[in-house]
Amino acid sequence: MKNKIVDIYFFTGTGNTYLVAKKTAKVLQENGCTVTVNDITKISPVKINLSNTIGICFPIACWNTFPIVKNFINNLPKVDGTEVFILTTMGDSSLNAATNFGDILKKKGYSLIGTKGFLMPNNFIAVQKEENNITKRAKAYSKIESYATALADGTAKAGKTNLFFKICFAGTNFIINRWQGNLFQKIVKFNTVKDKCNKCGLCIKICPVKNISLEKEYPIFNGKKCQLCMRCISYCPSHAIKSFLMKKTYKVLTIEEINKWFI
Ligand SMILES: Cc1cc2nc3c(=O)[nH]c(=O)nc-3n(C[C@H](O)[C@H](O)[C@H](O)COP(=O)(O)O)c2cc1C
Repeated sequence: MKNKIVDIYFFTGTGNTYLVAKKTAKVLQENGCTVTVNDITKISPVKINLSNTIGICFPIACWNTFPIVKNFINNLPKVDGTEVFILTTMGDSSLNAATNFGDILKKKGYSLIGTKGFLMPNNFIAVQKEENNITKRAKAYSKIESYATALADGTAKAGKTNLFFKICFAGTNFIINRWQGNLFQKIVKFNTVKDKCNKCGLCIKICPVKNISLEKEYPIFNGKKCQLCMRCISYCPSHAIKSFLMKKTYKVLTIEEINKWFI
């Protein structure tokens, strides 16, 4: 990268992407960059500093990403050559979503210096045992070590899209554009098990889009903004939030990190 002042913008549901953003920042700093790490839910895309190199990190959802991330990327201003890199985290496969988003940014005048997806533990439906998750995170960290070093020294590569991946992206965009409507919310359908709920209100505080409200002291999930990011169900301390799709949940962040980033 030519400009070694880097601002990383991330969205994370359950923590994986935050960890990737944090590790990337550390490696970039070790390679002479000045780096900030920022949560995209707390900053408007039109207010970011376009004279710095920009890193965008987000989780893959339905081989695409959450509406909140798409809005952030789509609303980034046009520029004249600002360097940008895109990092994604995924449980299995992304169908090259990062490169498709890279194309969107190239059209806005950004210079795409890297796109890379990292396999991290799955936080949706097929959640694995923690011992497997530890191994998966360790492998991702070592890949970040080499990729972020390459980003800093200018040898990182940005992936390329082809017709197949473009068609897939059009299909997944169709789904993501309907993500916040009734259909998907009804499929996942979170509900509160009243016997287990300790009324601590954590789910309400940590929801990135303020979608959860109280009804007779218990959380309800009937807002239309839910991203299906799994944060509420994963971090509920009394396991009182349920969805028939989620037999097991995933969490990775410490209490300190939850307080710092989610609240
Ligand atoms: C609703 C939903 C859909 C997902 N879809 C995909 C997918 O299409 N492909 C994939 O590899 N992982 C998928 N995942 C898994 C996440 O991308 C992965 O676990 C990611 O690292 C989670 O990041 P986070 O902890 O920062 O939220 C999905 C997760 C959720 C919650």
